[in-house]
Amino acid sequence: MRIGVISADSASESRVALTPDAVKKLRKLGFEVVIQSGAGQAAYYADEMYQAAGADIASSSTEVVTQSQIITTVNDLPAAAIDQLTSGQIVIGMLDPYRNTQLDTYAGKGVTVFAMELLPRTLSRAQNMDVLSSQANLAGYKAVLLAANEYSRPFPMFMTSAGTVKPAKVVILGVGVAGLQAIATAKRLGAVVEASDLRPTAREQVESLGGKWLDVPMSAEEAETAKSTGGYAWTPSEQYVKDQAAVVDKALSNADIVITTAQIPGRNAPRLVHGATLAKMKAGSVLIDMAAGTGGNVEGSVPDETITTANGVRIVGAANIPSQLAAQSSDLYANNLVNFITTLIAPAATNDTSAKTLALNLDMNDEIQGALAVTHENQVRLAKR
Ligand code: NAI
Repeated sequence: MRIGVISADSASESRVALTPDAVKKLRKLGFEVVIQSGAGQAAYYADEMYQAAGADIASSSTEVVTQSQIITTVNDLPAAAIDQLTSGQIVIGMLDPYRNTQLDTYAGKGVTVFAMELLPRTLSRAQNMDVLSSQANLAGYKAVLLAANEYSRPFPMFMTSAGTVKPAKVVILGVGVAGLQAIATAKRLGAVVEASDLRPTAREQVESLGGKWLDVPMSAEEAETAKSTGGYAWTPSEQYVKDQAAVVDKALSNADIVITTAQIPGRNAPRLVHGATLAKMKAGSVLIDMAAGTGGNVEGSVPDETITTANGVRIVGAANIPSQLAAQSSDLYANNLVNFITTLIAPAATNDTSAKTLALNLDMNDEIQGALAVTHENQVRLAKR
């Protein structure tokens, strides 16, 4: 059975779906692998490295599609590759399912599409396939470095003969995987860190990393809802949003660096920082909006652009930070994909693990496959949000 790797659009994406190491693992399992020429180049994986790992090189995405049963990708496929798909093929990637406009096309062609973002994250056997966590962890780290680079003062406190340098004050809004890594990284660089999230359980995690929890008052009813959502974000009341805005306004008036990470799967990111708050911030302060690609947590942020407000506040619209760490984020993403692909294969009936004996074992009743499959047997299976 052949697995193909499609090259991402290099203008916006430097990651690659499978790395040479992942190819080696798949070869060991009995798969053949074909890579679109240059697919790993931006992540520092040359065609020769893939060949040395046992992959074939194809000259175009259409060539990869026509040769492969399973097609792996970082983001959605280019139109030319989708055109070539035929019934029974499988596509695996971060397909942005709730905003993907091609699902009907995939379903119409009888293609099974697995959107890795839909993984049930609390399922322990799925954790080594969790692309949101593997990518967000790296992104949280890099967001702090981006902020440090934009900021015209250092993060740590320095005592020098020319005077004392105060530590940077960093505020993190949204303390999921990315936010926690951002707190840890900012602390390691010597900053003073405050953080907030609408999940009260995040408080303990913030404090265990040495951060100060910014508390937003919550009604008893909301506290109950927060507990019952299994750790995921819930829809806050108008009163909560108002109180949160006041807490954010006060914290940001004194902040040097702000990193926002709040996202809601399948919906636009919540607006956490408003223009009135930005107007109170210090000249030279920096905001990194990690939700810029899904509507933005910060008013006025623009994906992939850095803008400076009239009062000298810089807003970085960090839409795709994992792509800036392409070598490492590709390694982890590829591991996630290999772990998932392994679950699609039926246990070998014989000891012969050559490519011919591998058989697909698609099972929509399986809690991982069933959750990830957004199209299968000509149907779009995605539940509305
Ligand atoms: P995310 O990227 O979807 O959002 C980032 C953070 O923003 C979340 O903590 C969320 O609660 C927060 N947020 C959303 N709306 C907000 C608002 N209006 N105001 C303030 N904060 C807001 O989150 P991520 O990192 O994908 O994690 C989502 C959840 O999944 C978390 O509860 C996390 O602990 C949990 N998780 C569990 C895992 C496991 O059990 N193995 C693995 C990974 C994540």
